[in-house]
Amino acid sequence: MLEIHLDDSDIDRELRADVTTGLTAAGKWLPPKWFYDARGSELFEQITRLPEYYPTRTERSILASHALEFARITEAKTLIELGSGSSEKTRILLDALLQRGTLGSFVPLDVSDAALEEAVAGLAVDYPGLTVRGVVGDMTRHLHHIPDGDNRVVAFLGGTIGNLAPAERAAFLGNLRGVLHEGEWLLLGTDLVKDPAVVVPAYDDAAGVTAEFNRNVLRVINRRLAADFDVDAFAHVALWNAEQEWIEMRLRATTAQHVQVRELGLTVDFAAGEEMRTEISAKFRQAGLAAELSQAGFALRHWWTDPDGLFGVSLAQAVATS
Ligand code: SAH
Ligand code: TRP
Repeated sequence: MLEIHLDDSDIDRELRADVTTGLTAAGKWLPPKWFYDARGSELFEQITRLPEYYPTRTERSILASHALEFARITEAKTLIELGSGSSEKTRILLDALLQRGTLGSFVPLDVSDAALEEAVAGLAVDYPGLTVRGVVGDMTRHLHHIPDGDNRVVAFLGGTIGNLAPAERAAFLGNLRGVLHEGEWLLLGTDLVKDPAVVVPAYDDAAGVTAEFNRNVLRVINRRLAADFDVDAFAHVALWNAEQEWIEMRLRATTAQHVQVRELGLTVDFAAGEEMRTEISAKFRQAGLAAELSQAGFALRHWWTDPDGLFGVSLAQAVATS
């Protein structure tokens, strides 16, 4: 059973607004959450298994090394997961908290109803004693639907926080602090700044899965808004922005394109070679992250990383704000 805070008509309304804003802007862009229809979520799962995509396996190994410590420190009664997707790595946390004997319920929240439904069904089978309450929602708007309680831990894994722009990130962390009580916890996975020669292939793999994932946003718009993007006329681009320390994903029109978005009565022209931004994936440094957390009312208590320093998992605690 899923709890739905984002139904098809909400999604349509938001998609229309986002597509109108993004495609009529001087520099065209599309917001990333529209990658994740059923096919997009499946493509993302394929990305997590690519040899070039180090974040998933690295984060999994960090979680495995520190799960018991995490359970001992937090003694969570409720684990909430934002942008939960398949919740596959989260099972490591569930196992540790169940072993500790404190956990009663798990609340995964995701915009992708398809991904959530599959995850919740699998968890119900494998964790019969656990209350699992899946919430379909947008973490930038629906945090107030997180169930109240005590000793809650919010997990936000996969480096997904890096998909928010800096100002959105600050707003998101502030909102999150606002729905937590002092003493409750945030377990946050962040990809770290490193050699671009390692980062870039993670977003531009040899098999072309990431390219398909990126182009999927065009298929979503074609289907939901009766648009006629020629999906194959757009090439995947992944660029390291050294100044901002983020990866930028773009779609480049390989030839001039004239696109109709029928549901919006909108025509959009792309010059040959024109690029449209679809995603950023920011990479972090420990000090900068600690400062952002502190700004939002969280104190960084533990910082866990892998031997190569590829990925960081922070455990931060909600503190009193003045
Ligand atoms: N946590 C998983 C999945 C990461 S992929 C992992 O670590 O592997 C990012 C996930 O966030 C996807 O499942 C996507 O559907 C979800 N997502 C993206 N934007 C979202 C938003 N605004 N609100 C809620 N979920 C979102
Ligand atoms: N949260 C993931 C990340 O930033 C999402 C992601 C992985 C992604 N590969 C992508 C988003 C390619 C867009 C395009 O690593």
